[in-house]
Amino acid sequence: MIYSLLRPLIFLLDAEAAHRLTVRVLARGPAPRPRPSDARLARHLLGLDFPNPLGLAAGFDKNGEVTDAALGLGFGFVEVGTVTPRPQAGNPRPRVFRLPRNRAVINRLGFNNDGFDVVARRLAARRGRGIVGVNVGPNRDSADRAADYVAGVSRFAAVADYLAVNVSSPNTPGLRDLQASAALSDLLARLARARDAAARRIPILVKIAPDLDAAALAATVETSLSVGIDGMIVANTTVTRDGLTDRDRAGESGGLSGRPLFHRSTVALAKVRRLAGNDLVLVGVGGIDSAATAWDKITAGADLVQVYTGMIYEGPGLARRIVTGLAERLDREGVVSIADVVGREADRWAGLDA
Ligand SMILES: Cc1cc2nc3c(=O)[nH]c(=O)nc-3n(C[C@H](O)[C@H](O)[C@H](O)COP(=O)(O)O)c2cc1C
Repeated sequence: MIYSLLRPLIFLLDAEAAHRLTVRVLARGPAPRPRPSDARLARHLLGLDFPNPLGLAAGFDKNGEVTDAALGLGFGFVEVGTVTPRPQAGNPRPRVFRLPRNRAVINRLGFNNDGFDVVARRLAARRGRGIVGVNVGPNRDSADRAADYVAGVSRFAAVADYLAVNVSSPNTPGLRDLQASAALSDLLARLARARDAAARRIPILVKIAPDLDAAALAATVETSLSVGIDGMIVANTTVTRDGLTDRDRAGESGGLSGRPLFHRSTVALAKVRRLAGNDLVLVGVGGIDSAATAWDKITAGADLVQVYTGMIYEGPGLARRIVTGLAERLDREGVVSIADVVGREADRWAGLDA
């Protein structure tokens, strides 16, 4: 496997420089053509036909530069962003740190991105097909953060397949306060109205933190259901540092992702699934790095799953390995469709402590 030979060299670079290099290579090379995945992995959700349930999580292709290359790697969908209305530089570097012993990353990028107009134009010019969502957030210095999200609906309705509303990044001061119930119900109601008024209906999913307590999770689900939000993405990075043995970097501020996030984010997902029943589409993300962990996320309650940090450690072949591994698992379990196993372990996961 080539990546295992290249990884020590890539890891000599600062994490953000390595990421920039990867995006450049993917953007220049001919996009690998998506191969059809096993029909048993397909899902029809949000009015869209997902060829398989594995997506590339937000933050990898922040500016929509490599969507077709990512789809060619085997992903069933790609989430671009977070994009803010105006371009912004983000926090001072260094701001991304690897914790190899824990197969984890801490980042405090702070929404560095090209802004709505550049990214929307890039998506409009895409040649490939395949499902692309856009994750939106407010500018750090915005006077009206809710208006920034709402502007994303009209800006991206024609060029994206779904909109993810990021109220859970730990790296924009005060952002996560939008998850408090009064602020959130006001924001989500405005978004749902904007969606219903747009020329083309774009499904809206709200992306939450894995650090919400049971009461906050319940309030978020209730609000999403009552205003008619389409789904939830569970979860963003955590501000906790439990279980880290890689002490060198554990003290860096920012959001922690990768293997140490798997348990916490899966328990939160299962709780949301139990509260929402089948009325919300749920995307499970956090710590997936194999077909086995993707399977566990799905049986805990995820209709769709996403990865980011796992790819840093396992390489670009991970998507294909997960998709193939999920199909093999269906064979072994004698199940005819991946949809049939969604949430079958939700009760057990929801009973565990985070
Ligand atoms: C370097 C980096 C940048 C990220 N940027 C974003 C972002 O811009 N918006 C967002 O919603 N999530 C962002 N995330 C969070 C991921 O989308 C995902 O929710 C989280 O990393 C957990 O998944 P993982 O363990 O597979 O990485 C970022 C994660 C990393 C590691």
